[in-house]
Amino acid sequence: MTRLRFDMNPSFRERYGEWGIVTGASSGIGEAFAYALAARGMKPLLLARREEELHRVALAVKERYGIECGWLVLDVADHNFIERVMLACGDRDVGMVVGNAAYNPAGAFTDLSRSDLMRTLDVNNRANLLLAHAFLPRFKKRNRGAFVLVSSVEAFTGMPYSAAYSASKAYVLSLGEALWGEFSGSGVDVLTVVPGPTDTPLLASRKLKIKGMPARDVTEIGLDHLGKGPSVVPGALNRWSFRLLRRLPRRWIVKATGGAMKKIVADMRADKNNSETGK
Ligand SMILES: NC(=O)c1ccc[n+]([C@@H]2O[C@H](COP(=O)([O-])OP(=O)(O)OC[C@H]3O[C@@H](n4cnc5c(N)ncnc54)[C@H](OP(=O)(O)O)[C@@H]3O)[C@@H](O)[C@H]2O)c1
Repeated sequence: MTRLRFDMNPSFRERYGEWGIVTGASSGIGEAFAYALAARGMKPLLLARREEELHRVALAVKERYGIECGWLVLDVADHNFIERVMLACGDRDVGMVVGNAAYNPAGAFTDLSRSDLMRTLDVNNRANLLLAHAFLPRFKKRNRGAFVLVSSVEAFTGMPYSAAYSASKAYVLSLGEALWGEFSGSGVDVLTVVPGPTDTPLLASRKLKIKGMPARDVTEIGLDHLGKGPSVVPGALNRWSFRLLRRLPRRWIVKATGGAMKKIVADMRADKNNSETGK
């Protein structure tokens, strides 16, 4: 297992509270958020569907940081997910929520099922909206708290062959920015982290020939940005590309990103066919 190290910084817990909820904490960026919160003195409450992975991350948190860690096996797309989260929180002093879990069904729009599309909305949008609605009023009442959303570079443009996912990530960015404005000055920090390619199982499944940023860098940059603005794009190269993207004519960007995505989807399909036929 890769050992991730962060500087212990207990003031973070004083600033926001004792517990931090992280959705999608069983791998990738969510796992790195769990370690980053623990390193800053907060107790992570991990949410995801795979129990073994949650158990692994919780053990690592306890071993590395000597910090209590809770976990809840749950599908954030379930109709009663928010009630289960609130029940699990009980009277814990929850001071931060990180809405990180996402569903990313890449493929030609006509190849996706209705349930793929609904799941994209439920996991990427509905769940985050319900978390915001449940926790932001509590944070406001106690004059402190942090609400972090994880969007994606795909939020900046409609992306062919990733239409539902890119649109869902634009929703996340827009929601986060609007909430940042609404809660500014209330003591509650709202932030949307907008990662570029990041080294996680999700990126590995895309068979890209690019190297992503380490997930821990994304989470460190994200948490360091709390209270400093509505959103952050980790990585200088990513920031530079996005500034450029915003200046180019939309039709160029959509065509260019669509061409790249089409190839990725074709490679993924060929890979799947090869593994099914045993090539
Ligand atoms: N990696 C990148 O290049 C990249 C780039 C831009 C943005 N992002 C964003 O970063 C976030 C994390 O992605 P990642 O790259 O770390 O991917 P990942 O390693 O595949 O992790 C996704 C996490 O979401 C959880 N999850 C998925 N569906 C869920 C559900 N229905 N209920 C509960 N948990 C669920 C997964 O856990 P279980 O399977 O155990 O449920 C897993 O812990 C996502 O919001 C993604 O859009 C990633």
